[in-house]
Amino acid sequence: MYENELKALKKAGRFRERHLYDDRLDDLASNDYLGLSHNKKQFKKAVKLVTKYDTISSKASMLVNGYHPIHRIFELTMAEYNGFEEGLVAGSGFLANMSLIEALVRKGDMLFMDEEYHASGQMASQLLGDRVVIFAHNDINDLKQKLAAHPANRQIIAVEGIYSMSGELCKKEIFEIADEAKTLLIVDEAHSAGVLGKNLLGIFEYYDISINERHIKMGTLGKAYGSYGAYILASSHIITFLVNRAKPIIYSTAPSVFDTALALVNVKYIRKNAKKYKKKILERQTVVKKMMGIPCHSLILPIVMPSNEYALFMQKGLMSQGYLVGAIRQPTVKKPILRVILNLGVSVKKLQHVLALISHNTVQ
Ligand SMILES: Cc1ncc(COP(=O)(O)O)c(C=O)c1O
Repeated sequence: MYENELKALKKAGRFRERHLYDDRLDDLASNDYLGLSHNKKQFKKAVKLVTKYDTISSKASMLVNGYHPIHRIFELTMAEYNGFEEGLVAGSGFLANMSLIEALVRKGDMLFMDEEYHASGQMASQLLGDRVVIFAHNDINDLKQKLAAHPANRQIIAVEGIYSMSGELCKKEIFEIADEAKTLLIVDEAHSAGVLGKNLLGIFEYYDISINERHIKMGTLGKAYGSYGAYILASSHIITFLVNRAKPIIYSTAPSVFDTALALVNVKYIRKNAKKYKKKILERQTVVKKMMGIPCHSLILPIVMPSNEYALFMQKGLMSQGYLVGAIRQPTVKKPILRVILNLGVSVKKLQHVLALISHNTVQ
């Protein structure tokens, strides 16, 4: 039925497959930034927490009776840590972005989305018709011009804290522009929460932004936080509106109770150990600067490859040496890259080894 389409994908080197990788490979491919995916002590803590309750599964939408005390404790903890009024758990980052974009951009409003915003936001923005303007990636002037050219009842800007493929940070000026223009600002902190800031809370903390009622932060639990699910932080007013309007919140089973518990114990653990983690993050960023000459402010190192095929070839070669890195190909990225995650669970020595292997085999 789809033979021609699949053939075309294979011909273009864009065919995708799920793999069961050897668990013994050193993982420099996933978004397990702090290495928590292997922490069984934390896992056991979460089991202990969940088993204190009679109800251990989600059962129904949060708007029916799927809302669990663990969801509420998690929301309150996240809101308090991050300085927001209110929190809302969501099933996944994908659903959180669908919720925000579809529900908040009403008739007469306009969304201004960075061109490199995650696919979930891009997909949701397709539901908005002409209520969306895409601005050039991290381009302050383009954003300013477009805000001026498209006055609206509510203007809403959507950016990421750290961009998932390039590892680039959202420019601080975007926070300032949003403040001056009194727009709502949605910041997807999927890759910056657990990585940036004094307490590893993310880009709001990193830039020392004082939170106001127009700020909206979302993040996923499936990356640095070592679990699965997502959260939205905002004013009580906006969270109340989402609870009443966001379809993925209303019409989807409440997020997994266990996964929320695991994120809760991990978020607390990260906060307690932030200093130790920050030191390890800096160590790895310094290695990248020294060996590759690339300044790195995140835990994502993209290395451009000459072709999709070469990216796969390099990935395979590194696997034979015991390392798994991401081979990200078009159309996910404009130019194919090896996406090397500076996972704190992999030693600095191994990171140095893998970077040396990449340097020797890549013509930049
Ligand atoms: C920037 C960004 N936002 C949102 C998501 C979606 O989050 P989730 O995996 O929890 O659906 C991802 C990736 O997974 C992402 O990289």
